[in-house]
Amino acid sequence: MFNNLYIHVPFCQSKCGYCAFYSMPSANPDAQRKYVDEMEWQMNEYTCVEPFRTVYVGGGTPSALPRKLFERLFLGINASLRLEPQAEITVECNPETVDVENAALISAFANRISLGVQSFSPELRRLLGRRSGNDDIERAIALFRRYNIERLSVDLIYAVPGQSLTAWLNELQRVVDYGVTHVSCYSLTIEEGTMLAEQQGVNAVDEDLSAEMWWATGEFLHKNGIERYEVSNYAVPGQECRHNMNIWHGGTYLGLGPAACSFDGHRRWTHPADLPRWLTRDPVEMDELDCGDRAREIFAFGLRTASGWTKEQWSCLEPDICGAMTWQDILELPQLPELLRQNLLVFEPERLSPTEQGLAFWDDVAQAIL
Ligand SMILES: C[S@@+](CC[C@H](N)C(=O)[O-])C[C@H]1O[C@@H](n2cnc3c(N)ncnc32)[C@H](O)[C@@H]1O
Ligand code: SF4
Repeated sequence: MFNNLYIHVPFCQSKCGYCAFYSMPSANPDAQRKYVDEMEWQMNEYTCVEPFRTVYVGGGTPSALPRKLFERLFLGINASLRLEPQAEITVECNPETVDVENAALISAFANRISLGVQSFSPELRRLLGRRSGNDDIERAIALFRRYNIERLSVDLIYAVPGQSLTAWLNELQRVVDYGVTHVSCYSLTIEEGTMLAEQQGVNAVDEDLSAEMWWATGEFLHKNGIERYEVSNYAVPGQECRHNMNIWHGGTYLGLGPAACSFDGHRRWTHPADLPRWLTRDPVEMDELDCGDRAREIFAFGLRTASGWTKEQWSCLEPDICGAMTWQDILELPQLPELLRQNLLVFEPERLSPTEQGLAFWDDVAQAIL
């Protein structure tokens, strides 16, 4: 029923200044053990025999789990769930949590690492409230290389107050120098209630500079053989994150863990973003839309990717979704001529995709469609 698996590990060593994701800083060992006990139980309950194509263990900081629990989580996934032999298995890691033992354990289980660098500049990392030092970043990259991890991705944040365009391009140069083949670049969002909002105010991001940095990122990475394939994601061709690509294209996913979201191709539901409530199996929050609205939503999300939609891809969605909005219906959407005229979308035979402009202004494209 589900093709992709997401596991949310809701523990971190401390809370970063900008982060609004659900995670508990400095969690106690008892809570972590209960979390893994419950995760094992839930994985055991899953009976579908269709294997998962991708697994994404994210958080939070999965690599902050004590080693024994981390190992149990991986063993539980392998023992209780079926994975395709070539499944893409990603684990998110924070550099300061990667030591020899962790790197060996993760590399034995996963074939893809998403490393949360955020910035190579110690000053900017301090401003963001990150724990890692440059030596942690270097060590983590060297260890994953030593253990032959197939694919390494790095997360970076730009438009941090005080960061110039030149400083940002230097960050990208570091990614290129390390030979990293995938990078996710997010413009800083200062969310209400975070430490950064208190210190800098919610309007501290220079949106014009952020836009300038977005365009410069595409250009710089392209010159270095790394292509933008989604609004915030860049890869050497062939190294794209399959898990996220599936999800942007309406793929089904099972989400396990507090705050994790699942999608069966039509309905979406979210587990409580609260460990105690998740442990007592409080009801999930349901998000149900009629088929036409869900189809429009899926269509808009696919347009976050540079490849957009092909007729064939669209026709592979759940029948009640692509039946509610057929490829022909898409071609006859009343908004389409204007989106094409504004050079936000481009139509080739059997494919509708965003232009660079359409990716830059994806919010406007989505708003027009929804
Ligand atoms: C939820 S985090 C988890 C990854 C891991 N714990 C870490 O910190 O590297 C996933 C990614 O989202 C991005 N992110 C989270 N909050 C953000 C924000 N407010 N603004 C921009 N990017 C953000 C960061 O790049 C981060 O690596
Ligand atoms: S950014 Fe990552 S490490 Fe920092 S609080 Fe959020 S999930 Fe935890």
